[in-house]
Order: sequence, then C-alpha cells, then structure tokens
Amino acid sequence: MNEDVLILAVESSCDETAASVVKNGREILSNVISSQIALHTLYGGVVPEIASRKHIEKINQVIEQALAEAGVTLEDITAIGVTYGPGLVGALLVGVAEAKAIAYAAKKPLVGVHHIEGHVSANFIEHPDLEPPFICLIVSGGHTHLVVVKDYGEFEIIGRTRDDAAGEAIDKVARAVGLGYPGGPKVDKAAKEGNKHAVEFPRAKVEGAPYDFSFSGLKSAVLNYINHAKMTGEEIVVPDLVASFQNAVVESLVSRTIAAAKEYGYDKVAIAGGVASNSALRGEMKKACRKAHLNFYHPSPVYCTDNAAMIGVAAYYEYMKGARSGWDLNAVPNLKLGER
Ligand code: KG4
Ligand code: ZN
Repeated sequence: MNEDVLILAVESSCDETAASVVKNGREILSNVISSQIALHTLYGGVVPEIASRKHIEKINQVIEQALAEAGVTLEDITAIGVTYGPGLVGALLVGVAEAKAIAYAAKKPLVGVHHIEGHVSANFIEHPDLEPPFICLIVSGGHTHLVVVKDYGEFEIIGRTRDDAAGEAIDKVARAVGLGYPGGPKVDKAAKEGNKHAVEFPRAKVEGAPYDFSFSGLKSAVLNYINHAKMTGEEIVVPDLVASFQNAVVESLVSRTIAAAKEYGYDKVAIAGGVASNSALRGEMKKACRKAHLNFYHPSPVYCTDNAAMIGVAAYYEYMKGARSGWDLNAVPNLKLGER
C-alpha cells in the first residue's frame, strides 16, 4: 500500500485558476496557475463575473495538467483540498463545485481550506525546518493580519487593519498615479528607481492597539499630494512618490511585526500573501530580523501570490488532524480567520 499522502488542491478564490499536487504536506509535485491578469487589465481591476466564467473554462484543464505534471492519476490521490473562502463568491463556487464533483466521483475525502491558512502554509514549502509556533504577517489584497501561528491551522490574531488592506492601498495608489492594474508589482518596480525619502508621508498609529494597522490616511495623503501637484502645476515624479509611499507601508508592517515577535517571545518570523512578494518588504524585514536576532522565513514570490500548492499544504495538515468536509461544503466569501 502507498503510504504517501497525496493532496490534489484547487484554488479559484480570485483571478487565478490553480491546481497542485502536494506529497506528504511539503513536497510540491506540480503547481499549475492560469492567470486572468491580461483579461482584467482591460477593465483596470478584477471583474467578478468575468473571473467566474474564466474559472469554469479553465478549471478542468488546469487540474488535468496538475495531475499529469505530477505523474499521477486521480486513483493515486489521497484527498481533495479546495479553497472555500474568503474570496469572490462566484469564483469560489467554481472550485468548490469542481472539487466536490471530483471527490464524489473518485470516492475521495474532501477538505475545505481557508485561503489565508493557505497563504501562511506557503512558508512550509521551502523551509522544511519551520514548525509552529511563529509570528506571521499576512498581507494580501484583502487582508492585513499579524498572527501567532500556534499550531498548524491555529491562529491567534494580535493585529489587523482598521481600514484598507496593504495590497488594497497599494493597488489604489498605483491606479491614482497611472501605473494601472495589477498595482503591486508595478509599484514594486517603479519604486526601485525612486528616492524613498523624497516625500514625507504619515505613519498612522491606532490608539490603544499597537499591532493594528491603518492605511487609509496614508492613501489619502498620497491622493492629496497628487491633487495639490496637479493644481499647482508641479511635476509628479512617480518613482519618488511610490517609493516614499511604499516605504511608509513597509515601515508600518516591519515595525509592528518585530515588536510583536519580541513582546510575545517568538524567535521565528514569517510573511505571507501577495504583498509578501514585495522586494522592499522582504529586504527590510530581513534586515530588521537580523538586527533583532530573529529567524526570517518567506515563500518564493510564486508561492506568495495566489496558488494551489499552498492550499494543498494547508489541506494536508487539516487532513492529518481529521478534518473532512461534507457534500454540503459551500463557498463562504467573508470567512474569518480561525473559523471553519
Ligand atoms: O494574496 P494575493 O495574490 O491575493 C489575495 O488573496 O488578495 O494578493 C494580491 C495582492 C494585490 O493587492 C497585489 O497588488 C499585491 O498582492 N502584490 C504586491 C506585489 N505582488 C502582488 N504588492 C506589492 N509588491 C508586489 N511585488
Ligand atoms: Zn490570496
């Protein structure tokens, strides 16, 4: 009998249709991602209806490719893992319905996965030595959370954003300065050419909540700066502006993460989510961790942005704990972290 646990994972919560085969929790046998970025670029952002339709078109072929690249068939698979929330409801439904159909037809167990637990689990892929507990900063398009990962799939939230998520603020600023969609990678690239001290932007603190974040004031400050420059006819140097803005975001994220690791007494710090692929955040967090004698972990960029490999890793640990979803598994667009 084959002792290996093979998870076939499916992810369709936003604008990537993805499938992956993961062996024994940490070995990625395949990681297929079909991105819809080119399509949504026409509209300046993700159009939910289009995303759902595209997922339906692509999902079978993405899954077949994931199995083929892994060199396995559905027979070899131990369980099916699928993201069921949070995310766009129509997009999530495509993955959930597909995973249920496959699991039912192939008589395999089904494991519903929290998308954010997937992002955190991406850290396990390339760091075989990393085990909970550790501090993790989760920064994506919809989430900004500082958590203690107490065990696999167990989180204590110690900080969260009060308004915009970090990725959301970055995307909005990118649009305002004309960099367009997808904002994150474009801001990252433009900022490399700019002076991060060119414009002094505020770093918001949330009264009485030292680990909470707030980015809407910073975003407004950038928009005001742009409006003022336009009215007075001053030239806007986009690389300087986005480098200064990005630096303010990165400083807020890094300072709180390091302070939390010290106060809570953890010597391991990880980052997760699409914004974790930001080169300035990775560089500054690395420096700050070294200075504070903390071990720093981060996934490769391909495992930071949405992918199914991270969902397969999370599904493995849930599966080993005995988690099983029923045929009534549904998409939960606003699923909270720590809920099942
Ligand atoms: O985790 P993710 O792929 O999807 C969500 O679950 O939201 O995160 C997407 C977010 C977007 O806001 C995108 O602009 C941002 O991650 N992002 C970046 C970079 N790459 C993606 N932000 C900053 N720098 C990047 N290199
Ligand atoms: Zn995500």
